[in-house]
Amino acid sequence: MPSLVLATSDPLATLAAALLLAVVALALLAAVYHDRPAFVPARPEVPQLKPSWPLVGSLPHLLALRKRGVRFLDESLRQQREVAPGGKPYTMALPGRFFGGRIYVVNNPAYIKTVQKDVELWLKGKAVQTIISDFLGPHGIFVSDGDVWYHQRKLSSHIFSIQSFRHEIQTSVLADLHKLDALCQDSIAQRKTVALPDVFHRFTLEAFTKLAFGVDLNTLPDNVAGLETQVTFAACFDYCQSFVERRPFSLVPLWAERFTAPGRKYHDSVRYLYDFSRSLIDQRYDAREKGTAESASKGGKDLLQLFIDAGCPRGDLPAVILNFMIAGRDTTAQALSWFMFEMYLHPDIAQRVRQEIWTNLGRAPQRDLEYDDYKKLPYLNAAFYESIRLHPNVPLTRKRAARDTVLHPTLDEATLPGKDLPSLPVRKNEAVQFSDYVIARMPEVWGEDCEEFKPERFLSEDGSLKQHSNFLFRAFNSGPRLCLGKNLATYEGMAVIAHLLGK
Ligand code: HEM
Repeated sequence: MPSLVLATSDPLATLAAALLLAVVALALLAAVYHDRPAFVPARPEVPQLKPSWPLVGSLPHLLALRKRGVRFLDESLRQQREVAPGGKPYTMALPGRFFGGRIYVVNNPAYIKTVQKDVELWLKGKAVQTIISDFLGPHGIFVSDGDVWYHQRKLSSHIFSIQSFRHEIQTSVLADLHKLDALCQDSIAQRKTVALPDVFHRFTLEAFTKLAFGVDLNTLPDNVAGLETQVTFAACFDYCQSFVERRPFSLVPLWAERFTAPGRKYHDSVRYLYDFSRSLIDQRYDAREKGTAESASKGGKDLLQLFIDAGCPRGDLPAVILNFMIAGRDTTAQALSWFMFEMYLHPDIAQRVRQEIWTNLGRAPQRDLEYDDYKKLPYLNAAFYESIRLHPNVPLTRKRAARDTVLHPTLDEATLPGKDLPSLPVRKNEAVQFSDYVIARMPEVWGEDCEEFKPERFLSEDGSLKQHSNFLFRAFNSGPRLCLGKNLATYEGMAVIAHLLGK
């Protein structure tokens, strides 16, 4: 008997017995949990992603995707079509300290509406906060739930409603268009190609640091040679983002990261970003004491000044501003990159966009797009939204249940297709997952031509912009956590396109 062996004083025998016990326990667990990680309850009534292995569930299948050269989002689309056709829910189970457990995949606006409307029940969750809060702070709007999020949301919504903020947005966006111009001209003159996504990321970072802090980082050069130069703030910001994105898959525990070279680089980068932000904040407070705050924020009111005026605690300011930068910078740069890609594929649509720009802003164009004008270009707006529909910036969302619940589909005209969908009992801490990338390619939701690039989807018969429900066109999220920068991003994107395509 193992217990008798354990009682002997022979260390080798003790070790052998312990190993034997472990193997027996593992075999027993594997027999009981033959298709999922240990202690995850079975859900045989919901279609299951296969193959699913004892104790590790679907993890090997997902890890093998990279080896097979399959993009995760394309695999999600295949799963939806094959495991649960017609927009039905399915389930998978994953091991892991951060994102493991039972996951219900609900790629259907009918479920998503129920989830998105209840921000107290469906949370971003502790796992997300743990991996991101040393970068974006525990109080950031992007990462928080509950009262903390509600407070941040109220503060930020107030700022977006201030009329002068629009002027500030327009100034920071238009200020860099001439640099973008010069860079493109130089690339043509020198016959050198530039990577547009890189250029757009530089553009949006520059515009955003101006909007946030009133400073010019010079991340966007006016010539091709300048693209070789690295700006420390931009390099640190990019490194932190890519590091936290890799964290869920890392085998190194958070406490041990500082013992690795990438971990040290990450922590140094975070420190640089915070030191940089704090020095600007300190300057602003000093200026306020000296009565020169107005000139420190260059006459207008940047985000920093608006948050100070709104009573945001001084210690929270760096993280609050960094949250905004993360929310607004990559999203808009990626949207612009995909839009240009679609224009390259559809020259006829590009020509129609150009015609609308010329009609409204003159050839060349003669003037830049102003904030109050962007609604006068519905075709460009429709094409921009159609591009974001097909290439959503947040292509996958996961939310965890704060308590046991039953997820009912919401059946109304905005959430087709809602018929024949089961209600799903979900336990506390279990997750639901949905993908706007998949939904954009579901004929049940967007029609048989869902995979085609068709700006007409966003146009009414009279040519004006068609307003789809936020629960259907979800690229800017929906419910109480709807993107606060939707109009800002739409204006910024359209102003850049009008400038570039109008040439
Ligand atoms: C094309 C550009 C953009 C797209 C597609 C987009 C999309 C989104 C999405 C999907 C979310 C929800 C994210 C989540 O909860 O996981 C979100 C949230 C947010 N976005 Fe945007 N966004 C864009 C640009 C911007 C800009 C320019 C700003 C301005 C600062 C901004 C500010 C925010 C904020 C503050 C939130 C958090 C809202 C909350 O949780 O209450 N976004 N956005």
